[in-house]
Amino acid sequence: MNKIMKKDIVAGLGEIGLPILKLISKKENAIGYDLDKKLMNEKKFNKFQNIQTRFLHISIPVKKNFISNVLTLYKKI
Ligand SMILES: NC(=O)c1ccc[n+]([C@@H]2O[C@H](COP(=O)([O-])OP(=O)(O)OC[C@H]3O[C@@H](n4cnc5c(N)ncnc54)[C@H](O)[C@@H]3O)[C@@H](O)[C@H]2O)c1
Repeated sequence: MNKIMKKDIVAGLGEIGLPILKLISKKENAIGYDLDKKLMNEKKFNKFQNIQTRFLHISIPVKKNFISNVLTLYKKI
Protein backbone atom coordinates (compact mmCIF):
# COMPACT_ATOMS: atom_id res chain seq x y z
CA MET A 1 0.00 0.00 0.00
CA ASN A 2 1.18 3.53 -0.75
CA LYS A 3 2.84 5.22 2.27
CA ILE A 4 0.54 8.23 1.91
CA MET A 5 -2.43 5.93 2.58
CA LYS A 6 -1.34 5.28 6.17
CA LYS A 7 -1.03 7.56 9.14
CA ASP A 8 0.75 7.75 12.48
CA ILE A 9 -1.20 8.94 15.49
CA VAL A 10 0.43 10.58 18.50
CA ALA A 11 -1.90 10.33 21.51
CA GLY A 12 -1.21 12.89 24.24
CA LEU A 13 0.06 16.24 22.97
CA GLY A 14 1.95 17.45 26.03
CA GLU A 15 5.61 18.08 26.72
CA ILE A 16 6.65 14.80 25.03
CA GLY A 17 3.88 14.14 22.48
CA LEU A 18 3.86 17.50 20.70
CA PRO A 19 7.58 17.49 19.76
CA ILE A 20 7.24 13.81 18.71
CA LEU A 21 4.32 14.74 16.47
CA LYS A 22 6.36 17.56 14.90
CA LEU A 23 9.32 15.25 14.26
CA ILE A 24 7.25 12.41 12.77
CA SER A 25 5.32 14.89 10.61
CA LYS A 26 8.54 15.70 8.75
CA LYS A 27 8.58 12.21 7.19
CA GLU A 28 5.16 10.65 7.73
CA ASN A 29 1.49 11.43 7.53
CA ALA A 30 1.01 12.15 11.25
CA ILE A 31 -1.92 13.40 13.31
CA GLY A 32 -2.23 14.26 16.99
CA TYR A 33 -4.97 13.24 19.40
CA ASP A 34 -5.58 14.58 22.90
CA LEU A 35 -8.43 14.58 25.41
CA ASP A 36 -7.97 18.36 25.41
CA LYS A 37 -9.48 19.24 22.04
CA LYS A 38 -7.76 22.66 22.06
CA LEU A 39 -4.41 20.89 21.64
CA MET A 40 -5.37 18.90 18.55
CA ASN A 41 -6.45 19.63 15.00
CA GLU A 42 -9.88 17.99 15.10
CA LYS A 43 -10.65 18.89 11.49
CA LYS A 44 -7.51 17.08 10.27
CA PHE A 45 -8.12 14.18 12.68
CA ASN A 46 -11.65 13.65 11.31
CA LYS A 47 -10.50 14.06 7.71
CA PHE A 48 -7.97 11.21 8.08
CA GLN A 49 -10.23 8.97 10.20
CA ASN A 50 -10.71 6.36 7.46
CA ILE A 51 -7.01 6.08 6.61
CA GLN A 52 -5.30 3.02 8.09
CA THR A 53 -3.13 3.68 11.16
CA ARG A 54 0.53 2.58 10.81
CA PHE A 55 1.61 3.39 14.38
CA LEU A 56 -0.11 4.62 17.52
CA HIS A 57 2.45 6.54 19.59
CA ILE A 58 1.42 6.77 23.24
CA SER A 59 2.54 9.83 25.21
CA ILE A 60 -0.08 10.05 27.93
CA PRO A 61 0.68 10.04 31.67
CA VAL A 62 1.27 6.64 33.28
CA LYS A 63 -1.34 6.51 36.01
CA LYS A 64 -3.20 3.56 37.52
CA ASN A 65 -5.69 3.42 34.61
CA PHE A 66 -2.93 3.65 31.98
CA ILE A 67 -3.61 0.20 30.46
CA SER A 68 -7.34 0.79 30.07
CA ASN A 69 -6.65 4.26 28.62
CA VAL A 70 -4.31 2.72 26.04
CA LEU A 71 -6.90 0.04 25.17
CA THR A 72 -9.54 2.76 24.74
CA LEU A 73 -7.20 4.69 22.44
CA TYR A 74 -6.41 1.50 20.49
CA LYS A 75 -10.12 0.78 19.96
CA LYS A 76 -10.90 4.38 19.04
CA ILE A 77 -7.99 4.75 16.65
N1 LIG B 1 8.10 15.11 30.33
C1 LIG B 1 9.19 14.36 30.55
O1 LIG B 1 10.30 14.84 30.82
C2 LIG B 1 9.09 12.85 30.44
C3 LIG B 1 10.26 12.09 30.52
C4 LIG B 1 10.18 10.70 30.40
C5 LIG B 1 8.95 10.08 30.21
N2 LIG B 1 7.82 10.84 30.14
C6 LIG B 1 6.55 10.14 29.92
O2 LIG B 1 5.96 10.62 28.71
C7 LIG B 1 4.55 10.59 28.83
C8 LIG B 1 3.99 11.97 28.52
O3 LIG B 1 4.51 12.89 29.46
P1 LIG B 1 4.35 14.48 29.26
O4 LIG B 1 5.36 15.11 30.15
O5 LIG B 1 4.35 14.81 27.79
O6 LIG B 1 2.89 14.69 29.87
P2 LIG B 1 1.97 16.02 29.77
O7 LIG B 1 1.20 16.05 31.03
O8 LIG B 1 2.81 17.21 29.38
O9 LIG B 1 1.01 15.70 28.55
C9 LIG B 1 0.12 14.62 28.57
C10 LIG B 1 -0.99 14.92 27.57
O10 LIG B 1 -1.75 13.72 27.44
C11 LIG B 1 -3.13 14.08 27.40
N3 LIG B 1 -3.89 12.91 27.81
C12 LIG B 1 -4.01 12.38 29.05
N4 LIG B 1 -4.72 11.25 29.02
C13 LIG B 1 -5.10 11.07 27.73
C14 LIG B 1 -5.86 10.08 27.07
N5 LIG B 1 -6.39 9.04 27.72
N6 LIG B 1 -6.06 10.20 25.71
C15 LIG B 1 -5.52 11.25 25.05
N7 LIG B 1 -4.77 12.22 25.62
C16 LIG B 1 -4.56 12.12 26.95
C17 LIG B 1 -3.27 15.28 28.31
O11 LIG B 1 -4.42 16.04 28.00
C18 LIG B 1 -1.96 16.03 28.01
O12 LIG B 1 -2.11 16.97 26.97
C19 LIG B 1 4.23 10.14 30.26
O13 LIG B 1 3.95 8.74 30.23
C20 LIG B 1 5.51 10.41 31.01
O14 LIG B 1 5.68 9.54 32.10
C21 LIG B 1 7.87 12.20 30.24
